[in-house]
Amino acid sequence: MQQDLIEKHYGSVFNNEQSLLRAVLKIHNNGNTIDLDPMFNKGMFYKKGFVDFPKLKYDLSPIEGVKKGNATNLPLDACSVKSMILDPPFLFGIHGKTEDNVCSKRYTIIENFDEMVKLYKGILSESYRILEDNGLLIFKCQDYTDSKTTMTHSLVYNWAIELDFYAKDIAILVKNNKIFNPNVIQRHLRKVHSYFWVFQKKVHKSGEKKR
Ligand SMILES: C[S@@+](CC[C@H](N)C(=O)[O-])C[C@H]1O[C@@H](n2cnc3c(N)ncnc32)[C@H](O)[C@@H]1O
Repeated sequence: MQQDLIEKHYGSVFNNEQSLLRAVLKIHNNGNTIDLDPMFNKGMFYKKGFVDFPKLKYDLSPIEGVKKGNATNLPLDACSVKSMILDPPFLFGIHGKTEDNVCSKRYTIIENFDEMVKLYKGILSESYRILEDNGLLIFKCQDYTDSKTTMTHSLVYNWAIELDFYAKDIAILVKNNKIFNPNVIQRHLRKVHSYFWVFQKKVHKSGEKKR
């Protein structure tokens, strides 16, 4: 009984990605899994079976069983998706030879800040197009410090609101086991947390202009 109560009442901070997602889906998606994951990579969200695999899986660099697709331009009809998740690369600023960078070839690092803005705005507006009214968008993001800090989660919030999403909720994932170089002088706090924004596409009354 006590355990049951605890499981039914979630806090907003988690240290396990799969449990976080399961809780978000329980509260905001009637416990159903996500329809679409267009940045699937290896599908770590669905590890351990806490969350079922989505029906639609895409990636620019797909593994077997995943379709090749660009999350900024998906082969899906407007207003056809109930729920989706975005987990774009969060590192940007490639140092050294771009063409030799393995991560840039696998699309897991973004070339620079402007390219990050273009990608993030592109995937947000494509999500807005394909989601049905009231549709759910979970957006995983992290702030990033290279030579300076970018509060990416605030940018994502602003861009989503501009598009007319409602920021319905937020969950925070804390991972304390991140690798770091102890010989480097620390100038910023090491970011051990990431954010899962829960956005909802707003319903518009008939006659009202829709973007
Ligand atoms: C941070 S990883 C996602 C990790 C994934 N959530 C998992 O659990 O394994 C980012 C993924 O986005 C993909 N990607 C980058 N840009 C993309 C785009 N425009 N469209 C689709 N996938 C893209 C990369 O290939 C990479 O697999």
